[in-house]
Amino acid sequence: MKIGIGNDHAAVEMKQDIAEYLEQKGYEVVNYGTDMHESCNYPEYGKIVGEAVAAGEVDLGILICGTGVGISLAANKVRGVRAVVCSEPYSAKLSRQHNDTNVLAFGARVVGIEMAKMIVDEWLDAEFMGGRHQTRVDMIMAIEEEK
Ligand code: RB5
Repeated sequence: MKIGIGNDHAAVEMKQDIAEYLEQKGYEVVNYGTDMHESCNYPEYGKIVGEAVAAGEVDLGILICGTGVGISLAANKVRGVRAVVCSEPYSAKLSRQHNDTNVLAFGARVVGIEMAKMIVDEWLDAEFMGGRHQTRVDMIMAIEEEK
């Protein structure tokens, strides 16, 4: 499985640690940056990774900024993206099982690296349950068509 990863200046080290962790687990990781500590704009990275997921360049996306909020908001503006920001593993797992999220975000200033790994593990190990959840996800996606 191919995972696209992106971040802003607040999360360079955490991105590197998570990318390494994923590679050790056998995932292919595509790094969309940034690898610079200079202040940058998180919407750019949310958009790049969101577009990569929507285009099928990667299977899933992981985004990290200070809180995970701004970068997930940007990704959610890309048609086809369902991004969730999580600070604990339960919501991460349920967001896959019920909401079929295809982008996970978290905050390098909110969670420590071990919590981040646990969130990532629960999210990647969970599977979408379909059924009544598919109906609801379809309803969410239909909102995009109203624009
Ligand atoms: C950058 O200072 C910070 O605003 C950003 O990393 C993120 O937390 C935004 O949601």
